[in-house]
Amino acid sequence: MPIILVACQKGGSGKTTTTVNVAAELARLGHDVLIADCDKTTKSSTTWAQDRTQDDTLPRVHAIQKTGNVREALKDLATRYDYVIVDAPGHDSQEMRTAMTVADLMVIPTRPSQFDLDTLPDMTKLVEIAQDMNPKLKAFVLLAQVPTDSNGSEQDEAKDYLRDYPQLPLIDAALKSRKAYRDSIPAGRGVIEWSNPKAKAEVQVLVKEIQGCL
Ligand SMILES: Nc1ncnc2c1ncn2[C@@H]1O[C@H](COP(=O)(O)OP(=O)(O)O)[C@@H](O)[C@H]1O
Ligand SMILES: [Mg+2]
Repeated sequence: MPIILVACQKGGSGKTTTTVNVAAELARLGHDVLIADCDKTTKSSTTWAQDRTQDDTLPRVHAIQKTGNVREALKDLATRYDYVIVDAPGHDSQEMRTAMTVADLMVIPTRPSQFDLDTLPDMTKLVEIAQDMNPKLKAFVLLAQVPTDSNGSEQDEAKDYLRDYPQLPLIDAALKSRKAYRDSIPAGRGVIEWSNPKAKAEVQVLVKEIQGCL
């Protein structure tokens, strides 16, 4: 079943936050979800999944650590789970590049700043190379940590910026900067299992868009 790769060449952009929140929503929808945690320096999504097991009322999300060339491991895991979500390291890595050769969808969380947007042209080239080997690969940019007082201008600016890179569309969903995304993590929960309805709605829109792409 589908492999969703969450990757971006910048650390701190929101990869792990996106991974665990998408996983929690897919689990709520009744799917059997595995997170492949490929970030050996932080292991944050593995820790989140472990913390989650403390509360057995929460639908289970499995997690496993994988490093190096993850291509064959992901192909195998995809036969055993409804969704495999790959949490990539915060730099251009072997894990990211090998996962791109088998993923169905690549989600690139990016903060709406010029420095972060400037990493995307390089990513376009990597996506094109991976698509030669893996023609089914789709990719999109997800704006993450968008200021809550934003009037949508970040979205418009990012769209303008990405106009020259049709391989990397910006999706409608955006995750705003909200305390709920930080506070829910130590509880092993997604924001859909937390107390902020706006954050919950953002993740549900994102998951609908992901499912629509697959
Ligand atoms: N939408 C958000 N709102 C508030 N804080 C966020 C949000 N997304 C990420 N963070 C915080 O920013 C930091 C980096 O996020 P993280 O998901 O770990 O990034 P990455 O995995 O790309 O390095 C973490 O402390 C996380 O809690
Ligand atoms: Mg991370």
